[in-house]
Amino acid sequence: MSALTLLVSTLGKATGLLTILVLVIAAVLSFFDDPVPAKYSSMAEDMKTLEENFRQQNRSCFILGASGETGKVLLQELLERNIFSKITLIGRRKLTFEGKAYENVAQEVVDFEKLDEHAAAFQGHDVGYCCLGTTRAKAGADGFVRVDRDYVLKSAELAKAGGSSQFHLQSSRGADKGSSFLYLQVKGQVEADIEALGFDRYAIYRPGVLLVDRQESRPAEWLTRKFFGVFSSKTMSVPVEAVAKAMVSNTVLQPEQKTEILENKAIATMGKSEKK
Ligand SMILES: NC(=O)c1ccc[n+]([C@@H]2O[C@H](COP(=O)([O-])OP(=O)(O)OC[C@H]3O[C@@H](n4cnc5c(N)ncnc54)[C@H](OP(=O)(O)O)[C@@H]3O)[C@@H](O)[C@H]2O)c1
Repeated sequence: MSALTLLVSTLGKATGLLTILVLVIAAVLSFFDDPVPAKYSSMAEDMKTLEENFRQQNRSCFILGASGETGKVLLQELLERNIFSKITLIGRRKLTFEGKAYENVAQEVVDFEKLDEHAAAFQGHDVGYCCLGTTRAKAGADGFVRVDRDYVLKSAELAKAGGSSQFHLQSSRGADKGSSFLYLQVKGQVEADIEALGFDRYAIYRPGVLLVDRQESRPAEWLTRKFFGVFSSKTMSVPVEAVAKAMVSNTVLQPEQKTEILENKAIATMGKSEKK
């Protein structure tokens, strides 16, 4: 056998093995698929009507984390679908926007370490969206807990006291207050603490890896994203655009329960739906 034939045969076997590996991983991922509630998969034939009805009610909302990857897409989605008469961004710094599209956007700059002093910023919004968060790598373990648990919970408390009836929280796949992983434990704990506040309606979104071209360098997240991007798994990853779309669509849908949890697949399904 010539060297070339040997090389071609070896490459052929390697490709075959790789294909089998990819198929096995895909099968394992689909085995762990989250169920999608019927409401989301057969969603909103009449989304346009629902949005129009909601729009007529002249409601207002606030967004926490509007400078972040999900938050900024959420703001754009809300502006495009125009379901609120006023949108307030609550953050630690003022963001710059130009143009008529932003005429109904207000901003409240707050010190998250002294949120009680900013109770007024949380008053009078019908709906609250929270896309706030940091990472352990960026803020250290204590800093991560401070932001992802304390800031988020305090904001939710102020929103409830300020009259919000709906709260939409971007949490994470695997959130579990009993987890031994700090990240999942904190996410699960804050989910539960906010549920105890008793909003009329509370929606928890649990995306897997967020698919986004992040400006900031996060090597571990980048690697994970590349991996799950290849498998385009509806279970493990989801584009930020889908998370934003799902949050907005879900706002105008009738809830099945007071507290709803949307796992990654439900978010992906709902976030893919066409706007009518
Ligand atoms: N990355 C993922 O793959 C993934 C997967 C599942 C769930 N999640 C969760 O989804 C949520 C949103 O993620 P993302 O990647 O869209 O967020 P992101 O791009 O990291 O943005 C985070 C937002 O939180 C704000 N923030 C961070 N630290 C703060 C602090 N100390 N004080 C005040 N504000 C602070 C940021 O404000 P500045 O712009 O001022 O910094 C920004 O608006 C997070 O809770 C995250 O844990 C992420």
